[in-house]
Amino acid sequence: MYTQINNLNTEIVSGDDALAIARASDILRQGGLVAFPTETVYGLGADALNSDASAKIYAAKGRPSDNPLIVHIADTKAVYELAESVPEKAVMLMEAFWPGPLTVILNKKNIVPDGTTGGLDTVAIRMPSHPVAMKLIKESGVYIAAPSANTSGRPSPTLAEHVIEDMNGRIDMIIDGGAVGIGIESTIVDLTGEIPTILRPGYITGKMLEEIIGDVSIDRAIIEPDPNLRPKAPGMKYTHYAPKGEVTIVESGQNDKKVIDKINSLIAEKTAQGFKTAVIATKNNAPYYNCDNVLIVGEADKGVTISANLYAILRKCDTIGAEYIYSEALNQNELGGAIMNRLLKAAGHRVIKVH
Ligand code: TXA
Ligand code: MG
Repeated sequence: MYTQINNLNTEIVSGDDALAIARASDILRQGGLVAFPTETVYGLGADALNSDASAKIYAAKGRPSDNPLIVHIADTKAVYELAESVPEKAVMLMEAFWPGPLTVILNKKNIVPDGTTGGLDTVAIRMPSHPVAMKLIKESGVYIAAPSANTSGRPSPTLAEHVIEDMNGRIDMIIDGGAVGIGIESTIVDLTGEIPTILRPGYITGKMLEEIIGDVSIDRAIIEPDPNLRPKAPGMKYTHYAPKGEVTIVESGQNDKKVIDKINSLIAEKTAQGFKTAVIATKNNAPYYNCDNVLIVGEADKGVTISANLYAILRKCDTIGAEYIYSEALNQNELGGAIMNRLLKAAGHRVIKVH
């Protein structure tokens, strides 16, 4: 862990301001830190090939140094500069999903410093589709190493305001591009082994990947909360996304009424004990909760309405000071796997099943 810096004068600019993007590009070329919007979450960028610059990212986030960074590029040619070998299936995925929310893991070339890959021989590469991210990579002429722009352990930022909360005073510039579209981090696929493996689920689902390249496996550590399984993406082992209050997921196949009744009884119990409570609810069920803080996350069957709001709502739980938080299971949609992966972490895998 590095000592945290907290005395920089962070400039906050608009993504529409061309002069500001030019200044951001200068900052990156000189080894500084710039937070910028992507289509998934806000990133905290530095020159990926400058290990002093990427070291500053770890310091600003308070991030453990064994947790590698994703390198953001704007042209597929960059992949051949950064990666030792580029398998056919990687090319097929790049063609199908870039620019977009997919990160590929490949064997790295020596020009990628250990400081960027946490000492691994592999490198994570992604081409974001957000216009501000694209412009920044192209105009700066650097490959941008960027983790999510949150303090380590907090939910990833989906608004510039979240970045300001976590990073003001610690980095050189924050580019405000408004709300991101997807709201959860990119799908990560490891292509260094025999069978491509999902290391982190995201907007690009296993099914979408299989339509392009056939069989894909999923890192077992993602689906089984077994502390003895070591996730292949080092970052997946850390507790993430968790609000300060205790989060519990209440689940019951398709029976919303049972979930609502159970959550209402838990709230009544905690309220009687003097605790502040909150509910994370889907839109249709929201009117049925007896709680002062019903936070509507999205529509049950439309995954992206939920992913886009989830992290903002987890942060809101802290703002209102909720001590006990009850969430519906948010798995009845096409992004259910990716959303539940984050929600289960926020809940420390605390799930109540009602039948
Ligand atoms: O959507 C995203 O991917 C966002 C935006 C900013 O692009 N970035 C992001 O970065 O989520 P970060 O650092 O918060 O998460 C990166 C994840 C971590 O779990 C890390 O361990 C894993 O990627 N990772 C990075 N390089 C890796 C590698 N060479 N092998 C395995 N996992 C890797
Ligand atoms: Mg992160």
